[in-house]
Amino acid sequence: MQVHEAIMKKYIPTLEKAIKSVEGTPKAFSLDILWRSYEIDEWYSTADKMGTGLYSLVITTPKTGKTKQEVARWELVQMKNCCGICVSTAAQVRPAYRNKGIGLVLNQIRIDLARSMGYSLVFCTDVVSNEPQQKILKANGWKRVHTFLNKGSGNVVGLHVIGL
Ligand SMILES: CC(C)(COP(=O)(O)OP(=O)(O)OC[C@H]1O[C@@H](n2cnc3c(N)ncnc32)[C@H](O)[C@@H]1OP(=O)(O)O)[C@@H](O)C(=O)NCCC(=O)NCCS
Repeated sequence: MQVHEAIMKKYIPTLEKAIKSVEGTPKAFSLDILWRSYEIDEWYSTADKMGTGLYSLVITTPKTGKTKQEVARWELVQMKNCCGICVSTAAQVRPAYRNKGIGLVLNQIRIDLARSMGYSLVFCTDVVSNEPQQKILKANGWKRVHTFLNKGSGNVVGLHVIGL
């Protein structure tokens, strides 16, 4: 069994329930996590092995196996030349599927993925006024270790870490 399958098995009932509650979602569907690795040159070959890339949660039609809808996406990026640290970034839930608990579960999935790939620590940054994201981080045990003003955007940003 692949890592993604084991993780999906653990979280699939919660995700299915949330997705079924969204109006217009087809009755028969299965959920999958797709992963597209980034192109990494020979200098960074270990990063490829460690799951660096773009992940998508997709609704699939069981009969054809075709993707019907991308529900959410996120990226896991290994810090170059530091195999212990994974950066979790660009997490997004498609607006129609928000506020159903999917963001919370996908954050747990990212932690599980990073752990299963052998990382020791994950960090992420988030705008502190992003209420849903702050709730998710708190619920999943992330620690805010630093807060700073992003001079480019004017946003106050929190740097969060979780040990694995
Ligand atoms: C942040 C985001 C991923 C959350 O996904 P989600 O599926 O809507 O989150 P959940 O449904 O799991 O909700 C998490 C918590 O936030 C709350 N929440 C959800 N939407 C909310 C809103 N608009 N305002 C206030 N609270 C909200 C939920 O009630 C839940 O709180 P609870 O645990 O106390 O019940 C999603 O809003 C998103 O894609 N935002 C745009 C991109 C982004 O900001 N990404 C994160 C930074 S990289």
